Amino acid sequence: MKVGRKMMNLTINTQIRKDRINPEIYGHFAEHLGRCIYEGIFVGEESDIPNVDGIRLDVLDALKKIRIPVLRWPGGCFAEEYNWRSGIGDRSKRPQRINVHWGGVIEDNSFGTHDFMRLCELLDCKAYINGNMSGGTVREMSDWVEYLTFDGYSTLTALREENGRKNPWKVEYFGVGNENWGAGGNMRPEYYADEYRKYQTVVRNYGDNQIYKVACGPNSDDYYWTDVIMKNAGHCLDGISLHYYTLPTGSWDSKGSDLEFDEKEWYSTLKRTLYMEELVTRHSEIMNRHDPEKRVGLIVDEWGTWYDPHPGTNPGFLYQQNTMRDALVAGINLNIFNQHCDRVHMANIAQTANVLQSIILTDKEKMILTPTYHVFDLYKHHMDGALLGTSLVCDNIEVDGSAIPQIHHSASISDNGIITITICNLSHDKKADLSSALLNYDVSKISGKILSNEMNAHNTFDEPQNVAPSEFSDFSINEDGFSASIPPCSVVLLRLEK
Ligand code: AHR
Repeated sequence: MKVGRKMMNLTINTQIRKDRINPEIYGHFAEHLGRCIYEGIFVGEESDIPNVDGIRLDVLDALKKIRIPVLRWPGGCFAEEYNWRSGIGDRSKRPQRINVHWGGVIEDNSFGTHDFMRLCELLDCKAYINGNMSGGTVREMSDWVEYLTFDGYSTLTALREENGRKNPWKVEYFGVGNENWGAGGNMRPEYYADEYRKYQTVVRNYGDNQIYKVACGPNSDDYYWTDVIMKNAGHCLDGISLHYYTLPTGSWDSKGSDLEFDEKEWYSTLKRTLYMEELVTRHSEIMNRHDPEKRVGLIVDEWGTWYDPHPGTNPGFLYQQNTMRDALVAGINLNIFNQHCDRVHMANIAQTANVLQSIILTDKEKMILTPTYHVFDLYKHHMDGALLGTSLVCDNIEVDGSAIPQIHHSASISDNGIITITICNLSHDKKADLSSALLNYDVSKISGKILSNEMNAHNTFDEPQNVAPSEFSDFSINEDGFSASIPPCSVVLLRLEK
């Protein structure tokens, strides 16, 4: 049921400039899981697939185009099983280990620290390394940080040089544990906070390298966890993570299909993804009590859709296709993170290639970009902008007895005065006529792009361009600002100039 209203209104006040949108909100996450690292990113130097130092060129180019700001690695759950020493030195001598969380396959450790740091260098992005807290020792974590970043002579830096790298790397972010309330040790928050305090002590700043330390935060709505960590360890952390996945049904036993869904499941998915707003708001409120200056960031380092495994694939590999529904999920979440950029300092969609809500899918030498990739491409103009104060009046859509908005948006302004507005139309079949009042801004030029298609539409290796952005021109400038007609099931980018 819809509440009838003909015109929806968006007011944008360019004098209300809020916090800076940290580029890291547009971050990514690549785990040793299924075909994400191996095949999706790393194919090895001997591969026929064009590569540099074993890293796929097509994937590098795609990631550079969206200006990926930060990459999290090596997990996830994998991080809590990982010993960094397994991934350095002569590849033929590296330990073969069982990837216990993800399909029980053999991990040959051919992609390790040097390869990840090379990947970040090639992408010109920041490194976010996740350390092992429940399965590794304090000494291991200490050694890894020294190996990576110490700028003097030590046995470890000599080993680094022997392995081909003389100079220290820059490591901007370091996670101390992953999901320690679950697979990472099944800890209580009080216990984790104490362990965190111990482990973080060895995450040292060597030379001019400054590490932003991220503590394991809550599983979705575990507000008690956030409270305890902020209270007991808030003084020695820079960020606290939040993990929340969008499951169409809300049930881990039967999550729903990636491609086979109807209108009902379209809306239940969008409703569940909008729940991120409440999570970010409520965790921020708790953080505000302990940290009113907002020094500590909320780091949403795992988010995105999670469906039942794509038919015919290894269930432990978490491969799923990606439709316009995923595009809307991405657009909504990124709008939410923009709107909370005072607290959300970084977010990392799960995951980069071939796993969960991927931006890239590969099949041997072939690579395709998903609808989610295209949303990152449209939204990249928000990076480093100042969030603008806006207010929206729009129709609601009734979903299971509650209302969700038909339109979801965010707006920012860059240093050179260009306004970026991103708008999602959540209705699968109704356009939205939007009038926009621009306060303190005389717009003279608007350009637009749109991603729109049927709700189940997706790209395949045979039809890689089925869902792709195109020019959008269904708008006009008027004396108040502008009006635009936003097609159903779409994500729209508008760029305004004086
Ligand atoms: O992204 C897949 C998995 O989801 C990660 O390894 C883990 O942290 C989370 O449970």
